[in-house]
Amino acid sequence: TIVPVILCGGSGTRLWPRSRAAKPKPFLPLVGEQTLFEATVARCPAAAGFAGPIVVTGVKHLDHVEAQLGGRADARVIVEPAARNTAAAIALAAHRLPQDAIMLVCPSDHHIGRPQVFAEAALKAAALAEEGWLVSFGIEATAPETGFGYLKRGEPIDERGFRTAQFVEKPDLERAKAFLADGSYAWNGGIFAFRVSDFLAELAAHRPQIAQTVCESVAKGREEGARFHPDAETFAATQSDSVDYAVMENTDRAAMVPADMEWSDIGNWQALHDALERDGNGNTVRGAVAELVDCRNVLVDSDGPRVSVIGLEDVIVVVDGDDIVITTAAGVQKVGKLSGAVNQ
Ligand code: GDD
Ligand code: MG
Repeated sequence: TIVPVILCGGSGTRLWPRSRAAKPKPFLPLVGEQTLFEATVARCPAAAGFAGPIVVTGVKHLDHVEAQLGGRADARVIVEPAARNTAAAIALAAHRLPQDAIMLVCPSDHHIGRPQVFAEAALKAAALAEEGWLVSFGIEATAPETGFGYLKRGEPIDERGFRTAQFVEKPDLERAKAFLADGSYAWNGGIFAFRVSDFLAELAAHRPQIAQTVCESVAKGREEGARFHPDAETFAATQSDSVDYAVMENTDRAAMVPADMEWSDIGNWQALHDALERDGNGNTVRGAVAELVDCRNVLVDSDGPRVSVIGLEDVIVVVDGDDIVITTAAGVQKVGKLSGAVNQ
């Protein structure tokens, strides 16, 4: 069986003021009725043969996680005493599973428009993981994004996927442009399939400190119903590193499964608008009533006040409580640096 390992650690300041420290991005219904976290859980249903998910999260998100697990009685939660990035978070889950289990690592803050394509790719990735591959989901690269990992497509393994000839996490703009022009690179979707024993062996080979302290923190941890608490002191001593740098850039057993699943990491307000339905003028209104006159490609997302806009193009207006943000499409990258977002 495939065990979904759902990572829930993010803050999501770039979607401020809708996303806030007290209720960040994964727990908001940004696209459709479900929250991103609920949709992530729903993509791995027991009916399709998935085992109960393991959610790895911090104390401050625990209430949201448990409320939004929505009666998944087979779910388990690992409560991180501190945030030590994804290598350690995945290792925690690995140590709570049998050596031959297949983990499907899923970020909890992405949108996937075609869940059936995700499900098919997950089965292929899991089958490759059974054969010892460390598998990434490859997303067609459409822009020189520097916030993603890049996978160079190598020799095909079979109809399921390819060897990853090179894994480059977060290249600078120049390299990202070169990868895009080259045409043989895909984005890393941040979703992985690993056999527990292989993941732990690669982690021990490339980041022995993380492997050691996480292992100890689990051995000294305690269970509390469906929750598991690793030992705080040991876990806090763990180096902070992402699975991308720690394992994927270093392993020579990396593979990729291409997945054309309408994936978006909803990294900013423009990306959110791109994932939403629009009217004939390219406008989208969420929440309260809005009046848009002579507008094109405008997103209004208001939790109450009526918003009226005349004669603007490519503008985003967000109203949340006492906070209002108005930005152009180009300005969305700076939202996370606004003092309201930084000092919340
Ligand atoms: N539990 C837990 N603990 N979860 C964490 C932690 C942690 O310490 N740190 C991050 N996460 C979760 C985040 O909430 C998110 O769901 C996921 O792990 C990935 O972390 P990000 O911090 O969002 O990574 P990224 O976006 O910079 O890069 C990753 O994702 C990209 C695709 O969105 C990499 O895998 C890139 O290669 C990839 O392209
Ligand atoms: Mg991310």
